[in-house]
Amino acid sequence: MDSKHLMSTYARKPVAFERGDGVWLYTGDGEDERYLDALSGLAVCGLGHAHPAVTAAIAEQSAKLMHTSNIYAIPLQEMLAARLCQVSGLDAAFFCNSGAEAIEAAIKLARLHAHADNPADARIIVTENSFHGRTLAALTATANPAFQSGFEPLVPGFVRVPFDDLDAVQAALEEYPVGSAVLVEPIQCEGGINIPAPGYLSGLRSLCDRHGALLILDEVQTGSARTGKWFCYQHEAVLPDIAVTAKGLANGVPIGVCLARRHVAELFSPGAHGSTFGGNPLACRASLATLDTIEDQDLCARAGELGNYLLGALRTRLSGCGLVREIRGKGLILGIELTQPCRELVDLCLEHKLLINVTVEHTIRLLPPLIMEQDQADQMVETLGGCIERFAESKTPGNGEPS
Ligand SMILES: Cc1ncc(COP(=O)(O)O)c(C=O)c1O
Repeated sequence: MDSKHLMSTYARKPVAFERGDGVWLYTGDGEDERYLDALSGLAVCGLGHAHPAVTAAIAEQSAKLMHTSNIYAIPLQEMLAARLCQVSGLDAAFFCNSGAEAIEAAIKLARLHAHADNPADARIIVTENSFHGRTLAALTATANPAFQSGFEPLVPGFVRVPFDDLDAVQAALEEYPVGSAVLVEPIQCEGGINIPAPGYLSGLRSLCDRHGALLILDEVQTGSARTGKWFCYQHEAVLPDIAVTAKGLANGVPIGVCLARRHVAELFSPGAHGSTFGGNPLACRASLATLDTIEDQDLCARAGELGNYLLGALRTRLSGCGLVREIRGKGLILGIELTQPCRELVDLCLEHKLLINVTVEHTIRLLPPLIMEQDQADQMVETLGGCIERFAESKTPGNGEPS
C-alpha cells in the first residue's frame, strides 16, 4: 500500500477490501479474509454490499446513459424527486452529491428565507456536539472546534445552543426574532449517538411555528430507513420545513438531497444554486433501486425490529462489564458508551474481523446493514462482547494494554 500521493485527511487502517457481499467485506478469496461489516461504510450501504438490485440498475443505466446535464430535463431525477416527496411529506427536491452539499443548499435556502424579512439578521441556530459536514458553512454549523481549527474565518450568522434543550432554542429565537432557522440532527451520530428526549422535535416545530423560523433537520445519517422510518422525524409525526439526507440514499453511489416545503423551495430560482453532477441519471437510478428495495423488503420495519433485538442482546451480553456506562440506540444506529476512551477497540475488533467505529473517544458506534440476519447480528454481538471484555481486562490495574 502506498498512500504518498493522497492528501492525509484520513488516518486509514492498514486494510483494503477488494469485494463485498451483503454484510461481508473480503480482503481476498479465503473465508479467513472475511470481515463482518457493522458500519455499512458509515451508514451508506444499508442494503449491504453488491446488492443485486442496485448492481443491476447501475449496470443497465451505465450502458444506456450516465450523465447529461441539469440544463436538460432528467426524467429519472423527476421520478426520484416525486418518490422522495411522497415518503418525506415534503414538496420539492434539490439534488447534489453529498451530505455537506445538501446542508449548504439548506443554509442557502435559510438565508433567502431570512432576507425576505430582515437582511441584516439572518441567524441559524445550531447545537453543541453537532456534525453537519466539512464544507465551510457546514463546518461552521458543526460544533467540534478540532474540525474548525485552522479554517477560520468561519461563516457568520450561526448561534449555538445545547442539544435537546428547548428552553435554549426559545431564548435564542427571542433574541433573534426575525429571519431565524433552527438546524439540528434528530439524533446526533458523530457527536456520540445522542438521542433527544421524546417531544424534542415536536417542541422545536412548535417553537419555529410560533417565531416564524424555519425548522431544518439534518437526516444525512438518520434517513433512508436507518432508524426504523424513512426519516427519523416521522417517529414524532413532525414535518420540518427542510430535510436533508445523503448517505444511505443510493447504497454507495454518491448522492445528496435537500427537500423542502413548497413555499421554501420556491425561494430558489434558476441560477440561484446548482451542481454539475447533482441528480444525474446514474445516481437517480441507483437511488430508485435502493428505495424500491427498502420498500419491497419492508426494511423500515426490519431496522426497527433488528435494532430492538440488538439493544437487548448487547445489554445482556455486556451486563457484567463495568466499563459500559450506557447502551442506547434507535433502529440500526447504536451506541455503547464506555467509561473511558476506547479507540483501541477499533483495532482489536479489526483483528477479530469485525468493523466498528468509535466516536467522541468513548462511544462505540454501530451502523449495521438493514439486511443483517439475526445469526449475523448474534455473531456481531459475540465478537464485540469478547473484544470489550479483553479491552476491559487490559485496563484492569496490573494487566497490560491490549495488543
Ligand atoms: C449528520 C450529518 N450531516 C452531514 C454529514 C456530511 O455528509 P458528507 O460526508 O456526505 O458530506 C454527515 C457525515 O457524516 C452527517 O453524519
